[in-house]
Amino acid sequence: MSHEASPTRYDNSAFYARCGKSGLKLPRVSLGLWHNFGDGADHAVARELVLGAFDRGITHFDLANNYGPPAGAAERCFGELLNKDLKAYRDELVISTKAGYWMWNGPYGDWGSRKYLISSLDQSLKRMGLDYVDIFYHHRPDPETPLEETMGALADIVRQGKALYVGLSNYRAAETRKAADILNKLGVRCLIHQPRYNMLDRWVEEELLGTLEELGIGCIPFSPLAQGLLSARYLDGIPEDSRAAKPEGFLKREYVTVERQAKLRELNELAKARAQSLSQMALAWILRQRAVTSVLIGASRIAQVDDNLGALSRTDFSEGEQSKIDALLSAW
Ligand SMILES: NC(=O)c1ccc[n+]([C@@H]2O[C@H](COP(=O)([O-])OP(=O)(O)OC[C@H]3O[C@@H](n4cnc5c(N)ncnc54)[C@H](OP(=O)(O)O)[C@@H]3O)[C@@H](O)[C@H]2O)c1
Repeated sequence: MSHEASPTRYDNSAFYARCGKSGLKLPRVSLGLWHNFGDGADHAVARELVLGAFDRGITHFDLANNYGPPAGAAERCFGELLNKDLKAYRDELVISTKAGYWMWNGPYGDWGSRKYLISSLDQSLKRMGLDYVDIFYHHRPDPETPLEETMGALADIVRQGKALYVGLSNYRAAETRKAADILNKLGVRCLIHQPRYNMLDRWVEEELLGTLEELGIGCIPFSPLAQGLLSARYLDGIPEDSRAAKPEGFLKREYVTVERQAKLRELNELAKARAQSLSQMALAWILRQRAVTSVLIGASRIAQVDDNLGALSRTDFSEGEQSKIDALLSAW
C-alpha cells in the first residue's frame, strides 16, 4: 500500500518561504539524506523519516550523487520510497541532487566539467527513478574548469528539462556573483545557494548572505546543528548511537572535547531560558537571518524532526541573548 499523506500537512502556510526572488517556496525546515540513508541504514527508519517529514509539511528533500555509503545508495533508497510510497505526490515535492565531489574513478567522475555534471545527473535520475529533479547543484567550485563551462552545463540541464532550477554549493561570495552573472546571461537564474552555516561556523555572515540577498538568490544552510553537536546529544558524553560514535559518520569523536561539551552546556542553559531545546535555538538562530530561506537538517529519527520543527515557535533574539551567544562562541 502506498502512503496516504496527512491531510493537515499544509495547514500552516507560514511554514513556506519564497526562495530568493523566485516563484518557488520552500519549507523553513528541509530534510537532507547525507547520513542514515546508506546501504547499512535501517530502511524502516529511513521510510519513517521521509514519510513523517512529508506528513509534517516538509516538501523539500536534499540529496547528492555521492550520499551513502556507498556513493549513490541514498538516491537509490529515496528512489525506492518515492516509487512505493510517494508516487502520487511527485508534484508536491522539491527534490534536489548535486554533483561536484568524487563519484567514480577516472577523469570524468569529479569536480565541474560538463562531461561529469551531465553524466552524473543522468545517473542520479536513474537511481531515483525520476524524469527530472527540481534543483540541481554544482556541489563545490572547481578551480580548474572554466566557470563558463560549468554554468553552461547547468543552463543546458535546465533547457533539457532534467532540472527545473539550478543552485550552487560551497561557492564563496565573489565566485557566486560571477557564476550567477554567467547563468543570467544564458537566460537561467541561480535559484539557491547551499553553504555550511551554524553557530560554530559563521563564514557566510561576512559577505555571502548579503550577496545572496542583493542578487535575489535563496539560501539553505547545511549542517545547521554542526552535525548534531548543537543539540542535547553530546551534553554529557558521546552516545553509542550518535554520529560521532559511528565509523562512517563525518563528525569525528575527537572533535567532541570536554571543553566543547562545557560550552554546549552553557548554550543549553541559554536555550532553556528561551523555553527552547538547544537544537531549536541553534536553528532559530540561523532562521533569524533575512537571507535564509530554509534550514537543511539531517535526522536519525523522526522525534528529532519534531524537535527541530519547534524552532519556528521563536526565531527572534534579544540583544542580550545575541551578545551572550556571541561571547560564548568567540571562545569556541
Ligand atoms: N552541500 C554540501 O556540501 C553539504 C554538506 C553536508 C551536508 N549537506 C546537506 O545538509 C544536510 C544536513 O546536514 P547534517 O546532517 O550535517 O545536518 P545537522 O542538522 O547539522 O546534523 C544532523 C544530525 O544531528 C543530530 N540531530 C538532528 N536533530 C537533532 C535533535 N533535535 N536532537 C538531537 N540530535 C539531533 C542527528 O545525529 P545523530 O545521528 O547523532 O542522531 C542528525 O543526523 C545533509 O543531509 C545534506 O543534505 C550538504
